[in-house]
Amino acid sequence: MEIKEKPTKPKGKLGILMPGLGAVATTFITGVEAVRKGLAEPFGSLTQMGTIRLGKRTENRVPAIKEFIPLAEMDDLEFGGWDIFEDNVYEASLNAGVLKKGMIDQVRPFLEKIKPMKAVFDNNYVKKLNGTWVKEGKNWFELAGQLMDDIRNFKEEKNCDRLVMIWCASTEIFMEQTSAHQDLSSFEQAMKDNDPSIAPSMVYAYAALSMKVPFANGAPNLTIDIPALRELAMKNNVPIAGKDFKTGQTLMKTILAPGFKARLLGLNGWFSTNILGNRDGEVLDDPESFKTKEESKLSVLEYILQPDVYPELYKDFYHKVRINYYPPRGDNKEGWDNIDIFGWLGYPMQIKIDFLCRDSILAAPIVLDLAIFLDLAQRIGFRGIQEWLSFYFKSPMYAPGLYPEHDLFIQLMKLKNTLRYIKGEDMITHLGHEYYD
Ligand SMILES: NC(=O)c1ccc[n+]([C@@H]2O[C@H](COP(=O)([O-])OP(=O)(O)OC[C@H]3O[C@@H](n4cnc5c(N)ncnc54)[C@H](O)[C@@H]3O)[C@@H](O)[C@H]2O)c1
Repeated sequence: MEIKEKPTKPKGKLGILMPGLGAVATTFITGVEAVRKGLAEPFGSLTQMGTIRLGKRTENRVPAIKEFIPLAEMDDLEFGGWDIFEDNVYEASLNAGVLKKGMIDQVRPFLEKIKPMKAVFDNNYVKKLNGTWVKEGKNWFELAGQLMDDIRNFKEEKNCDRLVMIWCASTEIFMEQTSAHQDLSSFEQAMKDNDPSIAPSMVYAYAALSMKVPFANGAPNLTIDIPALRELAMKNNVPIAGKDFKTGQTLMKTILAPGFKARLLGLNGWFSTNILGNRDGEVLDDPESFKTKEESKLSVLEYILQPDVYPELYKDFYHKVRINYYPPRGDNKEGWDNIDIFGWLGYPMQIKIDFLCRDSILAAPIVLDLAIFLDLAQRIGFRGIQEWLSFYFKSPMYAPGLYPEHDLFIQLMKLKNTLRYIKGEDMITHLGHEYYD
């Protein structure tokens, strides 16, 4: 990845556009405004709270990431988005039930001003939802044109210098690549033909990339993970990233599994079940949307544990993931894991995890970091898949011929080494033998 421009202090405002103003997006927007007003702290955000070690351990150079590398500042962010419901962000934030009304009310006037634009939506791709705030057009291509008008108007109205788009809308049904996805001209023709292999999320991604707006996919949908849109990203010099924000149970898996492998502890089975009661849970109650999520959650262990390299430890482990829609729990998901491991001489052990997590609280800082890092990537001329942002995703996108890196600690090292590389600092290898010469 070539650095075309040296990173300099960005000027002007960064607009963050989100298809889907639901629990994640509203928790993110409300949170940013609360932090800007000094009402709360941006816990969980690497761009706001993370540090980076530079040079040797004896040098004591550990600046904050945001001081080390010029990033867009929280004060320079503007927000916009689309939804199939007309509620403004204040109403949507209350409906999501994640944050306390007291906090939402403290930033109410700001939130009320953010009103969703009409969505590109088709109930065949999210079976559990039906909305009224939806665009009309004769085909996907025309609808993409309407989204581009929205993007243009938003940029002008909010006086933004740069934009990024982050998919925070519901999980679409499971889809596989077809011939329509293989190159840009087939994809554009398929949009004009209203081909069913084009999903609404792809129409948003196409509109963003056509306008040179970086795009990240926070859900497990296929969306930009197809050759046609990768081609468009490369052609227009736009960075892209995905898929599926790494929160909750999968975050725990990518923390624990590398530890088991490091200590050569075997795995017989990993059973994961969840109850959640938000709209995301309701959408995932549909088997076709659940399949998209299931694929995303299941692949993690295979890649981390490498059963082909360690057959005695990881061949044939049983891995099951369930998500159950249980309305009383709202956004406060409960995730149980039962892990059957074995150690020395094959003696079995068990680990039980009961994670009482808050999905959107874990996802919101990811949206913030992705927006800020994708903007950095574009300013310095990075384009196509941003593998260094794998840290934030359950199913990281990767170049054809590679395999994804799921281990959270390798992902973090990759991210920080990329920042060092951008600034011309030495990579950190942790070899450290020079201290003992
Ligand atoms: N919360 C997490 O921790 C987490 C983690 C990983 C991935 N995700 C994914 O992020 C997405 C958002 O999660 P959430 O909890 O905010 O869900 P949510 O249901 O609260 O919000 C999604 C919003 O998208 C809207 N929507 C659906 N289709 C749309 C379209 N075509 N255009 C515009 N808007 C549309 C819905 O009306 C809804 O308001 C989901 O796909 C979810 O699977 C969430």
